[in-house]
Amino acid sequence: MSESPLSGSDRQPIINGHTRLLGVMGWPVAHTLSPAMQNAALAARGLNYIYVPLPVPPERLPAALSGLPALGFVGVNVTVPYKADVLPYLAELTPIAAAVGVVNTIVVREDGSLLGDNTDGAGFLDDLRAHGIRAGQAEGAGPIRCRRALVIGAGGAARAVAYVLAEAGVEVAVVNRTPERAVALCAAITRALPNARIMAHPFPSALAHLAPEVDLIVNATSLGLHPDTDPLPWDPTVPFSPRHVVYDLIYTCRTPFLALAERQGARAIGGLGMLVYQGARAFERWTGVPAPVEVMASVLKKGKMAYVLSSSPDRR
Ligand SMILES: NC(=O)c1ccc[n+]([C@@H]2O[C@H](COP(=O)([O-])OP(=O)(O)OC[C@H]3O[C@@H](n4cnc5c(N)ncnc54)[C@H](OP(=O)(O)O)[C@@H]3O)[C@@H](O)[C@H]2O)c1
Repeated sequence: MSESPLSGSDRQPIINGHTRLLGVMGWPVAHTLSPAMQNAALAARGLNYIYVPLPVPPERLPAALSGLPALGFVGVNVTVPYKADVLPYLAELTPIAAAVGVVNTIVVREDGSLLGDNTDGAGFLDDLRAHGIRAGQAEGAGPIRCRRALVIGAGGAARAVAYVLAEAGVEVAVVNRTPERAVALCAAITRALPNARIMAHPFPSALAHLAPEVDLIVNATSLGLHPDTDPLPWDPTVPFSPRHVVYDLIYTCRTPFLALAERQGARAIGGLGMLVYQGARAFERWTGVPAPVEVMASVLKKGKMAYVLSSSPDRR
């Protein structure tokens, strides 16, 4: 482990000849919250690393990826719009990344080859656990156990969440505006996890019969990022109940969807914790050191207001 000359989340890092490199690759990345979160975590653990934004225009993506080992990078996060585009340039994928076709974390291995991982799913389960909720057979001693889940959406985040839920033994129903994508999601997860209990249903017509059958409802669509103008990802005539845990992956605001669920007695959870834990998982993969989750959460909470005022969606 490289020791930093300074430690503590409030200190500025000193960059010297031993500093190791991490970053976030996207286009654009100007509003990303990850450098603040990861640099605070690195400083809190006294690690001599620096995490930098890497704005890469599309035509330079292959060169940027192949240059990571030569430049001495230990790893990078990948954000919009490259989470699927990076796949052909990676030597190996973890099982979840291979199944969902989305990478948010790259590890540069000793031999210079690139390993692609997806920490969104694990981050989601970590946050459920932190709220005392156990998904299926997942580890943890939480008092609430979720056995049946409804995932709304079939994009990258929905796929990661559906994968980890199915892997944990949860029975998963998937609905999506474009039904073929929900069907494809279920097929991909069933190929990777033959024992998965996962099925696509029509949206929004199936919500009325699915809602009473499930205990966990996840909004994994981007509806709610623009809370004043977006429609709900839900049929408002379908009621929530106190037995529901309702999770919205959106972390930039308390969405109208969560507010509705909460008003009707459901346990409502926003996506900020998932953002922290997916970052913590990446930190641990790169450094081998336990992530200071509290430090990371406090940086994100401070940064969130500035982010909401200045940013566009999902700029991790
Ligand atoms: N908390 C976290 O750590 C975390 C991590 C990752 C993502 N997220 C959030 O999760 C959300 C989804 O991200 P993603 O990367 O999965 O995005 P994505 O791949 O672009 O998928 C977007 C999803 O939203 C659906 N959608 C978009 N507009 C819609 C509309 N008008 N009506 C109905 N459905 C609509 C899409 O349906 P179609 O298939 O029909 O287009 C698709 O299922 C974003 O808000 C992102 O910020 C949070």
